[in-house]
Amino acid sequence: MDRIFSGVQPTGDLHLGNYLGALRNWVRLQHDYDCLYCVVDLHAVTVWQDPTVLSANTREVTAGLIAAGLDPAANIIFNQSQVPQHAELAWIFNCVARLGWLNRMTQFKEKAGKNRENASVGLYAYPNLMAADILLYKATHVPVGEDQKQHLELARDIAAKFNNDYGTELFPQPEPLILGAAARVMSLRDGSAKMSKSDPSENSRINMTDDADTIARKLRKAKTDPDALPSGVAGLEGRGEAANLLGIFAALSDAPLADVVAEQGGRQFSEFKETLTELAVSVLAPIGEEMARLMADPGYLDGVLADGAGRAGAIAAPILDEVFDVMGILRPVALR
Ligand code: TYM
Repeated sequence: MDRIFSGVQPTGDLHLGNYLGALRNWVRLQHDYDCLYCVVDLHAVTVWQDPTVLSANTREVTAGLIAAGLDPAANIIFNQSQVPQHAELAWIFNCVARLGWLNRMTQFKEKAGKNRENASVGLYAYPNLMAADILLYKATHVPVGEDQKQHLELARDIAAKFNNDYGTELFPQPEPLILGAAARVMSLRDGSAKMSKSDPSENSRINMTDDADTIARKLRKAKTDPDALPSGVAGLEGRGEAANLLGIFAALSDAPLADVVAEQGGRQFSEFKETLTELAVSVLAPIGEEMARLMADPGYLDGVLADGAGRAGAIAAPILDEVFDVMGILRPVALR
């Protein structure tokens, strides 16, 4: 069976972009592939994290994955740091990837901002760790939102260069799976910026734990333009906020965007926002309630992560041994 690997950072509240761009697709793929879903805490610490908040967020994201519908028995759900082979393979990939490749990564440029000299080395090498996450399991498919596409291309380049440098076919070329009408959900305050955990404005995003009143308030405040909604997809050109809200509607209702635009066309934003609020609440409220229930039982969540880490490690260890063998790195069997 083909294998899926994907990950999410425990750096803040899970939001609608994470849900529509990633989690919901993971749930839909979970029975057709052999799946590993990882809470990537080693990626999170590329930017300083408050220790008590990091552990709470790791549990909350785990609760989010389960509440969204991932079955911890049918999938492997774990946090990255519990499988030390991720960091070991990342080091090998630090020696395979070229500086020129990393210099092209737009996410580093965005996250480091103007003060690039002060960014951590980990933030710069982040895509190498991500390649290690995927290739440590020889994953063939990686379901992500559109913002991760460039990192996936880098993982493919690393796999190809490693295979070429060592004359092996060890690593497959992982395929990105970028699915659905909401592969790139935009901020509610700015239709040209991605919805993100790091946006300082809470009103820019809908969190998976937001209650009905909060969702209604954020959508009411969502930026729009003065015109009514267009009745054809072509009318969305240059109307980023309208395109975003209609895209969210299409994704939440599982309908093609063109049908949604035809149906909602001509309505005022104020009316449309009420319909969208009802839809968003009907999808998110049950997930938020289940997350709260799971969060009340940290022992259960820790058990899921420990069990997942044991199963992940059993796949990872022999693959890392293969890597070291191919490279001539001596690991007497007794020490493994
Ligand atoms: P992260 O934690 O930023 O996001 C988790 C997933 O949510 C998707 N996503 C979005 N999709 C649509 N619209 C948005 N506004 C939006 N915001 C986030 C992301 O594309 C992602 O699929 N580097 C990764 C985590 C990672 C990973 C991996 C992913 C580490 N190792 C290996 C895949 C494979 C990240 O920071 O995701």
